[in-house]
Amino acid sequence: MLMCNDTALWFLCRIFVMPSRMCLSSVHNTKGIIDSSNATSNPRWETSYCAMESLYDIDLISKTVPVVLDNPRSWYGIVSRSTKLGEGNVVHVQGVSRDELKDNPLYSDALLVNRTASPLAWFMECKDRTKRTSVMLPYTFLPTMPARKLRVAARKIKEILGEYDAIHVRRGDLLKNRKDRFGVERSLHPHLDRDTRPEFIKRRIAKWIPKGRTLFIASNERTPGFFSPLSDRYKLAYSSNFSSILEPIIENNYQLFMVERLIMQGAKTFVKTMKELDSDLALCDDPKKNTKNWEVPVYTR
Ligand SMILES: *[C@@H]1O[C@H](CO)[C@@H](O)[C@H](O)[C@H]1NC(C)=O
Ligand SMILES: *[C@@H]1O[C@H](CO)[C@@H](O)[C@H](O)[C@H]1NC(C)=O
Ligand SMILES: *[C@@H]1O[C@H](CO)[C@@H](O)[C@H](O)[C@H]1NC(C)=O
Repeated sequence: MLMCNDTALWFLCRIFVMPSRMCLSSVHNTKGIIDSSNATSNPRWETSYCAMESLYDIDLISKTVPVVLDNPRSWYGIVSRSTKLGEGNVVHVQGVSRDELKDNPLYSDALLVNRTASPLAWFMECKDRTKRTSVMLPYTFLPTMPARKLRVAARKIKEILGEYDAIHVRRGDLLKNRKDRFGVERSLHPHLDRDTRPEFIKRRIAKWIPKGRTLFIASNERTPGFFSPLSDRYKLAYSSNFSSILEPIIENNYQLFMVERLIMQGAKTFVKTMKELDSDLALCDDPKKNTKNWEVPVYTR
């Protein structure tokens, strides 16, 4: 957030500065979701970054809070505008206290930049949701702001699906195990591999999603036919069913995930992989945030 050092204008003069590019982690960017016929070769998208505008609709976000991208041209616009207003420099205030800001004359005329995003974040938007003063965008805001062509694709797919339910099945990246010093496999989510297999999913969601419904499955599982056992209860649909809509516009998995997220938001009943809120339905009861306790994976009921 960019802001003026004048508490009276604190909200009025806030500007949302977004990075002009998003780095794409290769871990999350293997191909083959749209075209699952070629899953075995596991190729990755070549790019290591993409333009923020290819993911988000900057104009749409700007209707709520003015956005500038941190590329030279928009920065030039900001700096020249602030100079015209008689204001001074642009100053980064990471780690500077509010009191110091008030007292130090160095900051009194400056436009202040407070970098709040973690450099490691990619989908951790607006993480500090409880501090109203530092974050004014709710967690639900950015997920509804994808670039226009992504929103159009999601709308088309939702129309074709009609009324549907959805499950998000994260496997791949989250299933990473490691061996302890005795050579025993350990996992941060010991029940995840089991609970995201079709037999277990079927039993788990039976009470929430009635037989015969259309079930949209968003997953990073690449084994062809992995979820087919669910087809005796549900009409299954994946992004790969809509490759004629998606292939012309999707350039990386981040865009694809944003489309899938819109589709999942439109489901009548939506089951996540792991709970984030108490009210969430989830496939697996393991805590989502676990970075320390490596446990032996469990495969039995
Ligand atoms: C599968 O991927 C490989 C390697 O990327 C490619 O050479 C091959 O033509 C692809 N096959 C199909 C059926 O698309
Ligand atoms: C910058 O943002 C952080 C995190 O949101 C917040 O704790 C801090 O008070 C902000 N700094 C200023 C000067 O507003
Ligand atoms: C999606 O494709 C699978 C095969 O990959 C097929 O079994 C299923 O019926 C398709 N679903 C829809 C809704 O067309």
